[in-house]
Amino acid sequence: MMKVIVTGTYEEMSLTAAEAVRERVLSSPRCVLGLATGSTPLGMYAKLIEMYQRGEVSFKDIRSVNLDEYYPISPSARCSYRYYMDTNFFNHIDIDKANTHFPDAENEDSEKASTEYEKLISSLGKIELQILGIGRNGHIGFNEPGSFLYPLTHMARLSESTVRANSRFFSSPADVPRFSLTMGMKTILSASGIILLASGKEKREAVRRTLSSVIDTSCPSTLLCLHDDVTLIVTRDALE
Ligand code: F6R
Repeated sequence: MMKVIVTGTYEEMSLTAAEAVRERVLSSPRCVLGLATGSTPLGMYAKLIEMYQRGEVSFKDIRSVNLDEYYPISPSARCSYRYYMDTNFFNHIDIDKANTHFPDAENEDSEKASTEYEKLISSLGKIELQILGIGRNGHIGFNEPGSFLYPLTHMARLSESTVRANSRFFSSPADVPRFSLTMGMKTILSASGIILLASGKEKREAVRRTLSSVIDTSCPSTLLCLHDDVTLIVTRDALE
């Protein structure tokens, strides 16, 4: 059964998630963290920065792998996920940037970039804690609803609803990249522990289906019920 922690506010959800990351980092200072972007984890990153500034936690020896990256994109582009992670988290803590990893979105050969990312993740050892957000349509990473899903890192086409949802970070929907490189379902499910964050009523349907214990590729987050250690940290408004 998925563990569910219901919080009253986005602030409380962010603090609860940050505390869980802090505990993991304190008990395993060299661990591999799987990280996500998007609006949802921003508050968690802000809390972790505060904890770091108060001297409660250090990320000095932490390794990180991000779930996904737009494709193709330069890491220095302002809308890249590398840029997001640097500006919202890495630049404010003591992590060694050489230990922070993303799929290589500049590699013209997307298959090679995907295989290399899988190899890199294996070479680091297990992802101890994977942070996930959830799309309104139930996507995790960029594993979009469909009649099939991929197990490993691959190039994915963003669904129209995801392009619309992500257009808030761009000047117009036409500027949103149509593709990404994303961890696959097996990559995600191989993490030792998973924290799924959800906030806001537009996530209600996706959260409801995630908790339904019915596996359905039309809602990729439903596959999380196959994992033994998933904690959903959710604000009350994202539950029915
Ligand atoms: C981000 C990612 C996506 C987001 C999802 C929710 O790295 O992989 O699956 O977690 O699109 O995005 P927000 O949090 O912006 O609602």
